[in-house]
Amino acid sequence: MRTPLIAGNWKMNGLRSDAVRLADELARHLPDLHGVEVVVCPPFVHLEAVKQPLTGTAIAIGAQNCADAALGARTGEVAAEMLADLGVRHVILGHSERREYYAEDDRVIAARYQRAMASGLVPILCVGETLEQRDAGRSEAIVEAQIRGITDLIGADGLGAGVIAYEPVWAIGTGRTASAEQAQSMHRFIRECLATIEGHDGAAERRLLYGGSMKPDNAAKLLAMEDVDGGLVGGASLNAEGFAAICAAVPRG
Ligand code: PGA
Repeated sequence: MRTPLIAGNWKMNGLRSDAVRLADELARHLPDLHGVEVVVCPPFVHLEAVKQPLTGTAIAIGAQNCADAALGARTGEVAAEMLADLGVRHVILGHSERREYYAEDDRVIAARYQRAMASGLVPILCVGETLEQRDAGRSEAIVEAQIRGITDLIGADGLGAGVIAYEPVWAIGTGRTASAEQAQSMHRFIRECLATIEGHDGAAERRLLYGGSMKPDNAAKLLAMEDVDGGLVGGASLNAEGFAAICAAVPRG
């Protein structure tokens, strides 16, 4: 049984007061959760501030990245140990914005993944093709290469309890969502690919999230798909009511 997971990626949005207000509203809209895990990922500097309003709720806190090295001389970075120490439970890694704007490659993403695991965090590893790659019929090859790029470096066992988020780059922040069928077909492919890497049982248990313009009005269809185990929600996670509606759209077994 894969427990569905809805993760909100706040990206680089909001000042401290906005983060506290959003967390407060989420606590009111999602006072208790059944059959779904929910995590919100604010910017690093707001992690501490959202703790208090979320205390007593089942909403977990995640980060949007972590360093590829242990505590030490890495100016400007935030170590996984520091996040775990703050009470952070999840960390998004390899997001397409990190790959594109900060030139993160498989090597650095794999190292971040290992640091996250060593600190007891649950990595949410993002993969996904660009529109150009999709149009060229290369979606599956790209996504497989992104997954193998990490597992070749950390080993199949290194994946641990990590989660994989399929986020087609052309659907992120564009309002253009993959259809439920497109998402299902890629998720099925990812699970098959994982089966060859980590074996059938591991692949059957691994949670696969869909990300890319998931909204209250399209979430139910996407989340109803057999291999879609939740969502990584960007823009729509900045509105508490909308985010709660997405969480409520998770099918209950
Ligand atoms: P979006 O972002 O929901 O705004 O498309 C998703 C993401 O980048 O994780």
